[in-house]
Amino acid sequence: MLLLLTLPSRKVYKKPATPVRLGHRNLSECVSENNMANDASPKRRDGIVIDDNWSGYSLDLFSYPSHYAGDLDCVIVPHGVIMDRTERLARDIMDDLGNKDIVVLCVLKGGYQFSADLVDKIKVLSCNSNRTIPMRVHFIRLKSYMNDKATEDLHIVGAEDLSFLTGKNVLIVEAIVGTGKTMKTLLKHVEAFKPNMIKVAGLLVKRVAQNSPWLPDYVGFQIPNRFVVGYALDYNEYFRDLNHICIISESGKLKYKV
Ligand code: HPA
Ligand code: MG
Repeated sequence: MLLLLTLPSRKVYKKPATPVRLGHRNLSECVSENNMANDASPKRRDGIVIDDNWSGYSLDLFSYPSHYAGDLDCVIVPHGVIMDRTERLARDIMDDLGNKDIVVLCVLKGGYQFSADLVDKIKVLSCNSNRTIPMRVHFIRLKSYMNDKATEDLHIVGAEDLSFLTGKNVLIVEAIVGTGKTMKTLLKHVEAFKPNMIKVAGLLVKRVAQNSPWLPDYVGFQIPNRFVVGYALDYNEYFRDLNHICIISESGKLKYKV
């Protein structure tokens, strides 16, 4: 069953003055700078910001499935860095929500890997600290992309009856946020079921052409406005079986176009 939803008006997050930038500096420098930020700082909210003019890592420096040779321009976020950043996001979530029951709402398909890794890392913290987060996991599916373009219609599958969310603490886990329209539509839908609290974790926020991007509560990376694949993000269902987050090449787009 499909629900067809219209897009709501936007709520804007004010861009902080000095975000952590990645590009012309090494990754560990940026990660450690971000870790020193205290909990309420704008830096923590921004995540790791990858500059528009950063050319990424050469594919020759990493291993990846040989069936994608020629289909990718570069590695923009290596798998190990995704895992390190996710570990820190888990800690931030534990700091904010420790000892609260939460329902993780995993946004499929792209969010399956990030959700699985984030839940794993929260589980580790629940075992190894004096705080714990009991978690239930629910899956919904959103679909609005054809080739590398968003279509007008947003389909939400598996969200017909979310009445079990009433009074619960909900953590929506999404792999990528663009304009924020899709997420705001989903938020409006979830809010209708009157949860106690809703937080959003987004691994990637794409810098689309607008001054004040909508930011999730927990942001992994802010990235240039390019089409990325890997770590469960697809182009027409391909590239989910790639560990690193990469920029797809023009020939890759042609090869898998529908
Ligand atoms: N890659 C994959 N899926 C997406 C993207 C992207 O860059 N943007 C929105 N959905
Ligand atoms: Mg997709």
